[in-house]
Amino acid sequence: MENSGLNKTEEGDRIFFWPSEEIKQKACVNSSEVYDQAEKDPVAFWEDLASKGIAWFSKWEKAYEEKIPDFKWFIGAETNAAYNCLDRHLNDKGDKTALIWIPEIKEEEAKKYSYRQLYEEVNKAANVLKSLGVKKGDVVTIYLPMIPEIIISVLACARIGAVHSVVFSAYSAEALNTRLKDGGSEVMITSDGYYRKGKIEDLKKKANEGIQDTNVKKVLVVKRTGNETEITEKDLWWHEQLEKADNECEAVKMKSEDLLFLLYTSGTTGKPKGVMHDTGGYITQAYWTSKWDFDLHEDDVMWCTSDLGWVTGHSYVCYGPLLNGITTVLFEGLIDWPNPERPWEIIEEHKISVFYTAPTALRLMMSHGKEIPEKFGLESLRVLGSVGECIDQKTWLWYLNSVGKGKCPLIDTWWQTETGGTMINSLPGVGPFIPAWAGNSFPGTRHTIIDEEGNEVIKTGEQGYLVQKSPFAPGLLRGVWKNPERFKKTYWRNDKYYFSGDGAYRDDGGRFRIIGRLDDVLKVAGHRMSTGEMENVIDKHAAVNEAAVIGKPDELRGEVPVAFVITKGEIDDKERLEKELQDMIVKGIGPIAKLKGFYFVESLPKTRSGKIMRRILKSLIKGEEVGDISTLQNPESVEKLKEIIKG
Ligand code: PRX
Repeated sequence: MENSGLNKTEEGDRIFFWPSEEIKQKACVNSSEVYDQAEKDPVAFWEDLASKGIAWFSKWEKAYEEKIPDFKWFIGAETNAAYNCLDRHLNDKGDKTALIWIPEIKEEEAKKYSYRQLYEEVNKAANVLKSLGVKKGDVVTIYLPMIPEIIISVLACARIGAVHSVVFSAYSAEALNTRLKDGGSEVMITSDGYYRKGKIEDLKKKANEGIQDTNVKKVLVVKRTGNETEITEKDLWWHEQLEKADNECEAVKMKSEDLLFLLYTSGTTGKPKGVMHDTGGYITQAYWTSKWDFDLHEDDVMWCTSDLGWVTGHSYVCYGPLLNGITTVLFEGLIDWPNPERPWEIIEEHKISVFYTAPTALRLMMSHGKEIPEKFGLESLRVLGSVGECIDQKTWLWYLNSVGKGKCPLIDTWWQTETGGTMINSLPGVGPFIPAWAGNSFPGTRHTIIDEEGNEVIKTGEQGYLVQKSPFAPGLLRGVWKNPERFKKTYWRNDKYYFSGDGAYRDDGGRFRIIGRLDDVLKVAGHRMSTGEMENVIDKHAAVNEAAVIGKPDELRGEVPVAFVITKGEIDDKERLEKELQDMIVKGIGPIAKLKGFYFVESLPKTRSGKIMRRILKSLIKGEEVGDISTLQNPESVEKLKEIIKG
């Protein structure tokens, strides 16, 4: 390629891109030897990384212990996540910009926080939380938009050993309520509102509804938009409290295995689960995956576009970059508002060097015209990343060429809320970067593919379930909050493998290609959703007998949810029912879960034991052959469904 920092080879129908000598020379990792070294003794390897990357108050007695479903890292060691993100940078980087906040409204100026300023804000917030009675181990729910206070709140919790549970601000009051009840928080942090496409969203209204019948006693409210909103006797203004607070607060010594945060995610059942992440293992992995995946150097400015309500925001907007002492970017707005030039303007203006986003955002950017990024000076970019869903070759190549000008390593990172940090991807100084292929397991982690019987699939190209092998990665979840049974059942079908729920296959270099979820979890515009959760909402409607939600392929959003609904008797006004169901979904989960199609049907294909055969619904919606239906209880339903789908 001309002007390329990448070399190119071809293997069969795949294109391999490789880092140039120049990239390799500057890279943190530039040889595949690191994989071999890690593989020899992964525990010793992580011990070494943990010693080098993290400041510990006391050392571990034992590095690793496992009795599935439990496993522990750095046993007995003490540290603090906020201390590692802030305090230890103060001496040599106190004045360096830690955080650049970019408001949605263009007229508003970006705000920068140096490491020292961020440290002081976090200390003040930590003191405020303490004054509200928050202690080590208490769960604090953070229901905030993408404003600096979300990072300050997260780190303030970490500082005093409180467990943060961030709830995505676009989730509905009901979704917040479920998470508050499960987490048991007595303190919540929210804001009056935030901007969405230039308009004010009244977040406080949802927060007020969401805390009904929960344990919440105090709510700290950040004034973001200044809109009129109902203030209750539980509320305290964030700025008033912080103004009075001392800017020094000792970082609590946390055992490595103490809980750092909960993050609710969708599983195959209707109820979201609180994924539990520990302190020492998580930050070790956040530090090193950030450093090696994105090849972080002292002067890097990293923009990860994920909301902090998702794990990507936790690990690669907040913890990873700050642990590494670089500059992280927090953007309040939507990626293409008010115009499709927005992301490229931001990259140009703030000299972003690492850009990490999702295929759905990339497809949106690409849909506005391939040439838009080409109008901008994007030469600050050095490493590109993708996450959240499978990236197709067309989008991958556009990203590489139009955004990265063909010279930036493009890493496709596979991981999950549960894994805490990236797990499978190429490294910028090692490569290869292959469109639609994630790559190898991160050094020190082991993944494989198993079949239905749990046997390892050795043959290349053969699909199966993607699993992780012992020793389990330091950042992997330690449990499901208040539900050890669910933890065991979902992830540990035996004591050999962590079960990811994804399908994948390998090439003969041991690289993985991810196929996507093999269970009933959807990825809509990169957001993880459970069909069960949506069905629960729909089933509540008085006119509905039964419903099945499945994902339908969508060019922009990857997949979108559609519902098959069996009603109780005839319905007169389908449009009205659709609207009512849609409203229930928005109220029950949030606008991200909006349904993109309703099919009113008389029956759904079921097995003899009464289970809905979603596989058949999925094939029908894609217009594919449905295969063998002889084992169905009601094979005649399939023909009828075909007609209804055809319309
Ligand atoms: O199906 C996989 C998909 O996203 C799921 C995890 O979603 P979540 O917990 O919301 O975390 C998203 C961000 C880490 C996985 O089970 N997924 C994630 N990354 C990729 C992916 N699918 C294909 N390629 C990826 N790079």
